Amino acid sequence: MSAAKKQGENVTDPADGATPRSGAAAPDLTEAEILEMQDSMSGEWGESAPRKAKAFWPSALRLAGTFGDHKLSLGIVLAFGIISTALTVWAPSILGDAMDVIFDGVLTGDGVDFPALGRLLLVVLGMYLVAALFDWLQGRLLNDVVMRIVYRLREKIEAKVNRLPLSYFDTRQRGDLLSRTTNDVDNVQTALQQAFASLVYAVLTIVGITAMMFYLSWQLAVIALVALPISGVVIGIIGSKSQKLFTAQWRNTGRLNGHVEESFTGHDLVTVFDRQDSMLEQFDTRNEELYEASFKAQFYSGMIMPIMQWVTYLGYVGIAVVGGLRIASGQLSLGQVVAFIQYSREFNAPLGEVAGMANMLISGVASAERIFELLDAEEQEADGEITVPDTALDGTPALDGPVAGSALPRRRIERAELTAPTRGRIEFDHVAFSYTADKPLITDLTLVAEPGQTIAIVGPTGAGKTTLVNLIMRFYEIDGGEIRLDGVDIRALDRGAVRSQVGMVLQDAVLFGGTIRENIRYGRLDASDDEVIAAATATFVDRFVHTLPEGYDTVIEDEGANISAGERQLITIARAFLANPALLILDEATSSVDTRTEVLVQEAMAALRTDRTSFVIAHRLSTIRDADVILVMEHGDIVEQGDHDALLEAEGAYHRLYWSQFAGGVDPDAEDAVLAGSAAVTGEVAAVAGEAPDTPDGLAHA
Ligand SMILES: Nc1ncnc2c1ncn2[C@@H]1O[C@H](COP(=O)(O)OP(=O)(O)OP(=O)(O)O)[C@@H](O)[C@H]1O
Ligand SMILES: [Mg+2]
Repeated sequence: MSAAKKQGENVTDPADGATPRSGAAAPDLTEAEILEMQDSMSGEWGESAPRKAKAFWPSALRLAGTFGDHKLSLGIVLAFGIISTALTVWAPSILGDAMDVIFDGVLTGDGVDFPALGRLLLVVLGMYLVAALFDWLQGRLLNDVVMRIVYRLREKIEAKVNRLPLSYFDTRQRGDLLSRTTNDVDNVQTALQQAFASLVYAVLTIVGITAMMFYLSWQLAVIALVALPISGVVIGIIGSKSQKLFTAQWRNTGRLNGHVEESFTGHDLVTVFDRQDSMLEQFDTRNEELYEASFKAQFYSGMIMPIMQWVTYLGYVGIAVVGGLRIASGQLSLGQVVAFIQYSREFNAPLGEVAGMANMLISGVASAERIFELLDAEEQEADGEITVPDTALDGTPALDGPVAGSALPRRRIERAELTAPTRGRIEFDHVAFSYTADKPLITDLTLVAEPGQTIAIVGPTGAGKTTLVNLIMRFYEIDGGEIRLDGVDIRALDRGAVRSQVGMVLQDAVLFGGTIRENIRYGRLDASDDEVIAAATATFVDRFVHTLPEGYDTVIEDEGANISAGERQLITIARAFLANPALLILDEATSSVDTRTEVLVQEAMAALRTDRTSFVIAHRLSTIRDADVILVMEHGDIVEQGDHDALLEAEGAYHRLYWSQFAGGVDPDAEDAVLAGSAAVTGEVAAVAGEAPDTPDGLAHA
C-alpha cells in the first residue's frame, strides 16, 4: 500500500487538499508501482493459507477448555472408544486360538473340533459387531458435542462483532475478519470432528496392540517395535522436507487464487490501464511456481510410503524367522504367531493416522487462536459505563486512576435518558477527536445546531466533515469535550437511543441484496406498502422504478450493480425519508444524482426537514445555499460559519470555495436559472422556477 500513499502525495498538492485524488492520480502510476501494489495485495491472499499457531499450547488448552461444559458426553465418548478398540484389538488373538484348534486337529489326527471352532468364530463375530456398534455410537456423540461447541463459538463471535467499536474494523482487513468468522470456524470444526476422533482411536489402538504383542511374546514384540524408530527417522527427515514444500504449495495456491480473483474483480481496471499482458505474465509466473512446488511436494511425500513399507517388510521377515523358530521349539503356537503378524500389520495404520491428524489438529488450533484473538479484542465501553478523562468541564468528582493513554483523572458519566420527544438540538462543546493518537484531527470544535435548523458542512476533501457527523452518531468516542443532544451528553445515553433519533444517508450508498421495496422498508420495518411508496415518490425513486419491469420487486443484484449510482442514492434517501427521524444527516447524499434531480430531492428533503435538525454535507455549493448555518471546515476545524449571504460578504474561505467551483466565470445562479427554466417547461418544478435566485453582489450573469 505504500505505493498508493506515495502516489497520493505526488499528485495532490498538500497545500490544496481539494484536488480530487483518484481522477488525476491514476495515469501517473508507473509500471513498477502497479506491480508493487498488486504484489502487496496478493501477498495478503497468500497469508490466508494454512498456518501455525503463534502460541500452540495455550491456544490448544483454551480450545480444550471449550469442551468443559460437555465433560459427561466426552467421558462417554472416551468409554465407548475404549470398549470399541479393546474389542477390535482382542479379536485377532481369539482368531489365533481358532487357528490353533484347526491346526491341533490336523496335527493330532483326531479331526478338527468343529463345535469349539464354531464357538470361537461366533465370539469373534460378536466382538466385531459390538465394536462397530460402539464405534458408531461414540462417533455420533462426538459429532453432537462438536456441533454444540461450534454453534456456541459462532454465537460468541456474532455477539462479539456487535460489541466491537467501529475503529476495530477500520484498522483491519474485512477479508481477514470474514475468514476468521467463517473459514476458521469451519476449520476448527473439522479438526475437532475428524482429528479428535481419529486421535483417540489411534492412541487407544496403539496402546492396545502393543500390550497384546507383549502379552503374546516380548521377543517378537521387540523385533516389531525396532522398525518404529527407523520409520520415525524416515518420516522425520522426509516429512519435514515435504512439509516445507507443502507450505510453499499452499502459499503459491493462495497467490494464484488471489491473482485470478483480482484479475476478475478488477477486470475493468486492468482493461482501462491495458495491463492484460503484465497480468498474464504474472499469472504464468505464479502458475509455474505452483507447478514446481506441487510437483516437489508430491515427489517427497510420495517417497514416505514405499520406504515405510520396506521397513515394515523387514520387520515381517524378522518376526517370521524368530516366530518360526519358537513354534519349532514349542514356545509359541502357530495361531499365536499368525495373530502376532496380524497385530504388527495393524500397528502401522494408526501411526500414519496420528501423523496425518496432527497436521489437521495444528491447523485447527491455529484457527482457534485467530478466533480467540477476535474474541479477546477490546470492546467498546458498555452503555452508561463510560469513563472519560476529566477535562474539568464540570465538577463531577474524579475516579481513581487515570484513563489508559491519558494522564488526566477519570470521571464516570452517569447514565441518562432522553426526554421524549427529541427536539434535535445538537451542541459540540470544545470537542477534540482523532482517529489515531499521533494525528490530531479535530482539536477544539464548538457549534450549536438549534432544532429545525439546516446545518450545511462544506470544505475540502479530508477536512473532517464525515468525521463530524460520525461523532454525532457516536461511531467513535471523542477524546475531549462533550457532544450534547437536547442538553444530554450523548455518552450518557444508550448508543441505540442516539442512533434511533438520527437518519443518516451515507457517502457511499449501501444496498442489500433484496428488492427495492425491502431496501426502502429497512428504514422502518413496520411501514405499510403505501408509506413505502409515498417515501419513494417524494424522493423520486418512484419515477425510475416504473421503468423497471419488476417495479418495486426488482431484486438489487450485487450491491446494486443493476441500477445506476444516482438511483442507488435515491433509494437510500427514500429509506431515511421513511424512517422520519428527529435528526437527519445527509453526507454527500446526492453527489451522483444529476443536478436537476438533486434540486428536486433537496426540495423533498426540505419538506422532510421542516421540523427536524439536519446536517447536510455537500460539495456542490449551489445546493446548500438555503441552509440556516453553513460551516466551512478545514483540517478538522471550523474556519467560518454563518449563512450564505453573510459568508459571501465576509469574502473568506467560503467566498473562495464558492467561486472556485465556477472558475470558468459561469455564475452558478445563472446555471440554476437555466435549469429551473427547463424544469418549468416540463411543469415539474414550478416552485424552483418561481424562486428568485440571489446573486453575489456586483457580478453579472453569464
Ligand atoms: N477510519 C479512519 N481512520 C483513520 N483516519 C481516518 C478515518 N476516516 C477518516 N480518516 C482521516 O480523517 C480525515 C478526515 O476524514 P473525513 O472522512 O472526515 O473527511 P471528509 O471531510 O468527509 O472528506 P470527503 O469530502 O472526501 O468526504 C482524513 O484525513 C482521513 O484520512
Ligand atoms: Mg466525507
